[in-house]
Amino acid sequence: MSIKHRKRSEKWDTPHNCRGASQTVDMVDAIVGRCGRRRDAVIPILQAIQKQFRYLPEPALERVCATTEIKMHDLHSVATFFPQFRRRPAGQHSVCVCDGTACHLKGAPAVFDAITGELGIGAGEDTDKDGLFTVQKVRCLGCCTLAPAVQIDSVTYGHVSRGSVPEMLEAFLKGAEAGAGAGAAAAANDSAPAEIRIGLGSCCVAGGSERIRGALEETIARYNIDVRVKHVSCVGMCHQTPMMEIVAPGMPAKIFAKVRAEDVPDIVLDTFTPGTTGGRVRAAAARWLEHLYTDDVMRVPGAGDVCGGCHRAD
Ligand code: FES
Ligand code: FES
Repeated sequence: MSIKHRKRSEKWDTPHNCRGASQTVDMVDAIVGRCGRRRDAVIPILQAIQKQFRYLPEPALERVCATTEIKMHDLHSVATFFPQFRRRPAGQHSVCVCDGTACHLKGAPAVFDAITGELGIGAGEDTDKDGLFTVQKVRCLGCCTLAPAVQIDSVTYGHVSRGSVPEMLEAFLKGAEAGAGAGAAAAANDSAPAEIRIGLGSCCVAGGSERIRGALEETIARYNIDVRVKHVSCVGMCHQTPMMEIVAPGMPAKIFAKVRAEDVPDIVLDTFTPGTTGGRVRAAAARWLEHLYTDDVMRVPGAGDVCGGCHRAD
């Protein structure tokens, strides 16, 4: 079934719609209890509400005003000043289309248009009518060698083209419906050691994950990187193989779908620092040579300046 023909189901309702008024009240009261009731708590309260509901529902703001010193005027002023705050419901899944320099030059605008077209999202809108996806441009996802890159929730897709957009969205939804990736974020915590998980279930193997495993082991040995490689069985993302998942302390877990063996060193080096001087020198030299000879987009002055984080492009 294509994305266009999917019917809305209970599963895709926005969190706020699923919850009754009393549940909203309980959630807001808990947030106020944590953040405080004074006017200087406006930003933490709005951030917590947005995290909970993925936007700022009016009933939640009214409850804040009813239980704190904060006035609706304060809330609206801050919410309209900072672009991080949403006043409209967000979709079930967040699609970040990288429009950093490398991705832009490799076709990100066409990918963005293909995604919004596939989802039937019109000009001035960012969410499809069924509330499945909210699409936005971001500045850099920090994996420029995969350009053009798209991140849907925690899954990163590299080398996306206009033609691969329907397949990418379908594959993501199939994984999401199977609950794939749900354990990833939960597993990322500050005390757990860093690890790279590689799927070696039958679909992963058929998709080429043995080549990915070889490239991974070679990269780790070559650059003396201190990370554990864990082989995992099927995690329900069979349509997105071969895949790698990176879980490192202090950062959200990241899943890379449809990985190519030649992309493995860059994916690893984007997250981990080589453990020895020799490893760092080799990594720097490899990247310099790659930029010099193989990646024409990186010759653009300042291209590297935009890397290293995910920021809204508008
Ligand atoms: S410019 Fe797109 S990942 Fe860096
Ligand atoms: S076999 Fe690898 S995700 Fe299913």
